[in-house]
Amino acid sequence: MSMHSPKTMQYLIILAFLTTAIIANKPKRTDDANNVAALETLLHKQAATIESLEARLTAQDTKLLQQQATLQTVLREQQSMDARIAKQEQVVGFYTDFGYKPYHDVTMKTFETLKFPRVLTNSGNGYNSTTGIFTTPFSGLYTFQLQFSGGTHNDTTQLSISANSLTVAVAYSEGDTRDQGSQGSCSAVVHLVKGNQVSVRFLSGNPMIWASRLASFSGVLVHSD
Ligand SMILES: *[C@@H]1O[C@H](CO)[C@@H](O)[C@H](O)[C@H]1NC(C)=O
Ligand SMILES: *[C@@H]1O[C@H](CO)[C@@H](O)[C@H](O)[C@H]1NC(C)=O
Repeated sequence: MSMHSPKTMQYLIILAFLTTAIIANKPKRTDDANNVAALETLLHKQAATIESLEARLTAQDTKLLQQQATLQTVLREQQSMDARIAKQEQVVGFYTDFGYKPYHDVTMKTFETLKFPRVLTNSGNGYNSTTGIFTTPFSGLYTFQLQFSGGTHNDTTQLSISANSLTVAVAYSEGDTRDQGSQGSCSAVVHLVKGNQVSVRFLSGNPMIWASRLASFSGVLVHSD
């Protein structure tokens, strides 16, 4: 067995020490590698989770937008339905006359409003038989009709459909020598605003007419504004 120099021995001791140290360190390096791998796995998992969360958020955003669009459509439909219902509620029409009264007449003063007592139709409650005045419940296009039978005097009778005391249309009955009376009639189509007053007034001539079903006054709201 050859003897090593002290220097060589020293060297060998250091080498042995280093080898031991390297061997001792080896498992530690494996642990670090394992930890890094675990961390990487964890990061990947978290990245996947974030990606799936983002996807879910995007899907929910899309769903929310679709729901908002649906809601807006429903609101628009509701509004147009409300408008249609409001239009349907604007039904206005009346029909009045003197009813069945044989050989009965009515005598009027000039510009007096004729009060038709029998109200057969009054949709919208625009006509008031106490005053003989129809008050427009809505603004719009209206049509009115008047007919009457003149009295038995040998004279003409003129009545008018008047809106706010202005003559719109005139009905004229001829005098009758045979004591029979004759029929006069007129109609009007006029645009009125809410609250306008429409009535039948006596203009001139024989101030007497037959107070019967032959005398009628009617009106209809054709189209509201
Ligand atoms: C009709 O007019 C009279 C007289 O102005 C009034 O007293 C009455 O309340 C009116 N009727 C309706 C149904 O408005
Ligand atoms: C009516 O007038 C005609 C023509 O003017 C006349 O002949 C007739 O006698 C008059 N009748 C009455 C009842 O006044």
